[in-house]
Amino acid sequence: MDLTSSQHNYLQNELVRELERQEGEKEDEQIVAEIMRRRFFPALITHENWEGFHFAGHEIRITEATDCYGAVVWPSALVLCYFLETNSKQYNLVDKNVIEIGAGTGLVSIVASLLGALVTATDLPELLGNLQHNVLRNTKLKSKHQPCVKELSWGIDLEKNFPRSSCHFDYIMAADVVYHHPFLDELLLTFDHLCKNDTVILWAMKFRLEKENKFVDRFQTLFDLEMISNFPSLNITLYKAMRKDSMKANLPN
Ligand SMILES: C[S@@+](CC[C@H](N)C(=O)[O-])C[C@H]1O[C@@H](n2cnc3c(N)ncnc32)[C@H](O)[C@@H]1O
Repeated sequence: MDLTSSQHNYLQNELVRELERQEGEKEDEQIVAEIMRRRFFPALITHENWEGFHFAGHEIRITEATDCYGAVVWPSALVLCYFLETNSKQYNLVDKNVIEIGAGTGLVSIVASLLGALVTATDLPELLGNLQHNVLRNTKLKSKHQPCVKELSWGIDLEKNFPRSSCHFDYIMAADVVYHHPFLDELLLTFDHLCKNDTVILWAMKFRLEKENKFVDRFQTLFDLEMISNFPSLNITLYKAMRKDSMKANLPN
């Protein structure tokens, strides 16, 4: 049976797509394995609950608790840290102003700080004690700039605590901030408040339930979104985003 040329093209495209899919799966598996190898656990059980990580040429120890979402390190944070470390030329953080929202135990803030950034690590008030402890322990005498730990409850007192006129962030970082919680409107408001025309948002999103996943569509009403890595085996996508029309706004008149 002879194939027509359009049938032939169709089959060829299908084959290319299948090979790309297999290649993507292999890459996903390999990189995820590499990311997970950065985590290690204490050899001895002690009274302190900690996990270790290797990023940016340092051994990082993170004290965890088990009583709330922000008290453990989530895989999205590892994905973002790995990206920062392996793309440190393209995304050079030295002397850049970085804010992390929903920092939790602080791993992303710590890695950004070890890579040279001026970091503000933020979260809810009840998380700040452990966050401060982790940040200090891992950056003191190691980082160029000492990070600052500050309360930022999404949507609350934004102008008072982070005035638009004086706060300028080169990067906003966020790992696993979208899940089943009632503050998605406030989260969007927070991104909107902190983001200037030249701010780059690096956001690792863990896809879970349909309802929360829709946040991505709402996010795209304000920001241009670009997928920079995707790990289907973890249901995590790393996005880069900038305020919509920011390119136009940056052009001289
Ligand atoms: C799933 S944890 C992720 C923590 C950390 N980014 C990580 O990936 O390991 C979500 C974080 O968002 C913070 N969070 C939740 N609701 C918040 C709110 N309304 N305002 C500020 N932070 C909030 C939690 O305290 C927690 O640290």
